[in-house]
Amino acid sequence: MSIILRLLQYITKNGEGVYTVGNKIHLVYKGNIALEILRLDQAGSLRKGVNLRLLEILIGKGLLLLHGTSHSQHRMVLKPFFQKTQNNQSLQAIVQHHIQEIPSTGTLIFPTWSDELFMKLIGETLFESHLPHGFEPLAKKTLSLATKAILAGVTGFSWGLQSKLQDLVNEWKLLIQPMIVSNQFDIGIIGAMKSAGFSEDEIISEVITSIMAGHETTSSSFSWIVMLLEKYKHVKELIRLEAPVILSGGNSSIIKNTIKEGLRLYPPAWIYYRSPLTSIHIGQHTFRKNDIILISPYLIHRHDWEEPQKFRPSRWSEHIDPSSFIPFSRGARVCIGQAIAMRHIEVALSVFYNEIEVVSSSRCKTNVGVVLRPAFNIEYRRANHG
Ligand code: HEM
Repeated sequence: MSIILRLLQYITKNGEGVYTVGNKIHLVYKGNIALEILRLDQAGSLRKGVNLRLLEILIGKGLLLLHGTSHSQHRMVLKPFFQKTQNNQSLQAIVQHHIQEIPSTGTLIFPTWSDELFMKLIGETLFESHLPHGFEPLAKKTLSLATKAILAGVTGFSWGLQSKLQDLVNEWKLLIQPMIVSNQFDIGIIGAMKSAGFSEDEIISEVITSIMAGHETTSSSFSWIVMLLEKYKHVKELIRLEAPVILSGGNSSIIKNTIKEGLRLYPPAWIYYRSPLTSIHIGQHTFRKNDIILISPYLIHRHDWEEPQKFRPSRWSEHIDPSSFIPFSRGARVCIGQAIAMRHIEVALSVFYNEIEVVSSSRCKTNVGVVLRPAFNIEYRRANHG
């Protein structure tokens, strides 16, 4: 586990659920307080954190940063797409093809290998088409710069980040503008936004938002689960046995529970940010206008649970109170891609364990940025179906 996470767990070990640094930055690590903040957020008393301001250059007209009526309007236009039943067969075919592209034995680097896979899956779901080349490296660059921009928003030191972010927007524009012009993408979200009269800047912002929000998160979650299953081999065996259920278009509570348990221990969106518009009071805690509130699912998921550090998917079939499970947030700004994420991970896990035998895995490093990401390799061989 990274030093940062260890330190955060240590300083929040005991206490009331809020750890305040320098009067202005508040780390929330208890579910009941987080839910109250998200309730007030829904009522319009908060905005996305002031530390996210620099990101407006990149995705200011996209769902993640919009607020008020523009946010509701965008959400209304995009919602049907995110709720559509996905074509299981075509998702499976993408994962199978991604696996066929690798040799029959070798090493896979996580999450690099799965980032590419989930980029293809998000392309299929949102654009109903292959994404043009160039998305994957640009997304990587964006994730790294976004982490720096958020940090700069907290510390106040931006070191020429604005011009770097502007250059990045221009690179995205070069990729996305031809997609807006071409009719090929009219059946996906781009078409929906064009019909709703969105401006080019709005469409570009939404495309960057959904690609950034929708592939590294799912890829990281999938990778964390692969890492966990190497430690908990009995659960891996259950997944392997359940895979045919998903592959034939059904639902598997064992696989769903395993994904939820992975998301509980390693929520990719491990922290999200809010700032109050006026002072708010929750219990004994006061958060003043423009303070930065950091809600951490990572810490909440490791506080409010029984034996929180244990990976135990079966807990999800017991009678549990899920109010302290917030990997997708809650309220008006709950992750719009939640159902897509669950389906992509389910299909990826099922095809992966149907096709691949993991021979060994390396030690796992934890990378803490905008997204909580593991880094490890596996030695694999293709499963012998004969
Ligand atoms: C395991 C995968 C995922 C996780 C853990 C996750 C988590 C989250 C969280 C916590 C938020 C709220 C952030 C905040 O309030 O500051 C969010 C928002 C969002 N997510 Fe996801 N997400 C995932 C997958 C996806 C996918 C697949 C998509 C797109 C297809 C997506 C698109 C979005 C968008 C557009 C928002 C902004 C929603 C709004 O503010 O109205 N996410 N996500």
